[in-house]
Amino acid sequence: MISVRPETPADHAAIRAINEAAFEQPDEADLVDRLRESGDVVASLIAEEEEDAIGHILFSRLTMSGSGDFPPLAALAPMAVVPDWQGKEAGTLLVAAGLGECRARGVEAVIVLGHADYYPRFGFSASLAAGLDAPFSGESFMALELEPGALARAQGKLIYPAAFGL
Ligand SMILES: CC(C)(COP(=O)(O)OP(=O)(O)OC[C@H]1O[C@@H](n2cnc3c(N)ncnc32)[C@H](O)[C@@H]1OP(=O)(O)O)[C@@H](O)C(=O)NCCC(=O)NCCS
Repeated sequence: MISVRPETPADHAAIRAINEAAFEQPDEADLVDRLRESGDVVASLIAEEEEDAIGHILFSRLTMSGSGDFPPLAALAPMAVVPDWQGKEAGTLLVAAGLGECRARGVEAVIVLGHADYYPRFGFSASLAAGLDAPFSGESFMALELEPGALARAQGKLIYPAAFGL
């Protein structure tokens, strides 16, 4: 049975290995390390089957430029399941648990740049993200409100953590 829990320092090497295996490059694992170092992580969860680490998801804090208030926002990135375990719902469990963690931390909306035919099943919508002043656009740029109407208060320019290098 696949279980999901918050990462601990003992998981860092396994999380690097998961990301490198899923993306076949070190870039996403490096991004995880940078986000941890800069203190921008909202939630980082690991999926396990028995004792094997098979998946990972991370949410980081987004801010907005301008002087006005904006809702607490998080970016979902990266997310990875090792190839042998893809298609067995580890990803689904990670997204569900991750959104729960975000909600518990007061996040009111989550933004993702990802597969346009994967994230809508969780409620992410490109049309919801289309009104944002952001470095991304198009069908792969999606948003989900944990607090209905939250994005109506997201009026400034969306700023990703420096770790993203945008
Ligand atoms: C995308 C990913 C995280 C999904 O995790 P998972 O555990 O395989 O997902 P689940 O088993 O919960 O869901 C399976 C569904 O995801 C879909 N899916 C998997 N990879 C996909 C992709 N690249 N694009 C679109 N859909 C994808 C499957 O087609 C399947 O759809 P179905 O339920 O309609 O049959 C995983 O496939 C992965 O790590 N891929 C490589 C890294 C990556 O692309 N990360 C996401 C970046 S946005």
